Amino acid sequence: MTPLKIAIFASGSGSNFQAIADRTADGSLPVSVELLVCDKPAAKVVERAAQAGIPSFVFSPKDYATREAYETVILEQLREHGVELVVLAGYMRLVSSMLVQAYAGRMLNIHPSLLPSFPGLNAVRQALNHGVKVTGVTVHFVDEGLDTGQIIAQRAVEVRDDDSEESLSERIHAIEYELYPYAIRLAADKLRR
Ligand code: GRF
Repeated sequence: MTPLKIAIFASGSGSNFQAIADRTADGSLPVSVELLVCDKPAAKVVERAAQAGIPSFVFSPKDYATREAYETVILEQLREHGVELVVLAGYMRLVSSMLVQAYAGRMLNIHPSLLPSFPGLNAVRQALNHGVKVTGVTVHFVDEGLDTGQIIAQRAVEVRDDDSEESLSERIHAIEYELYPYAIRLAADKLRR
């Protein structure tokens, strides 16, 4: 069976991109990363994709009149690469309903909290400010809301009394590198059935 073709969308460092790419390269995650989509030409993830030999579509939103205009090009790219599943990994833009609907049930996101707690930006800071003792990581399908889609997998992370945003983010990231490949595998198996 040919591996499911995925695209990863990212805007920054791309450590999740790396974790997924590494697991596809060593065969432990049986999907194929066909494309990186990135809205920040200077982002580290662009280098990571080049190193891994993964094609990328890198764009500057300001070069387009509207979100629909650049998403139309993204959609063409996804179709050209035969992408069957879209994986958002630190993509710092809202995705329009046009793209969400094109990949309904085929678009995942990872969020650094136990949703529905702390959706949106700065989830780790929100959790610390709230004083919760447990937070975590959620992988969910993307729908038209903000971090509201159906949950696929979650993992808890304990908050320590002396945690800073940095120390807590570091432990959350370590969990993400395990949870995202696991959830991608679950979603891919379901799509292949
Ligand atoms: C992760 O914490 C993820 O949960 C959030 O954005 C961050 C991306 O980090 N959506 P990285 O670019 O993969 O290192």
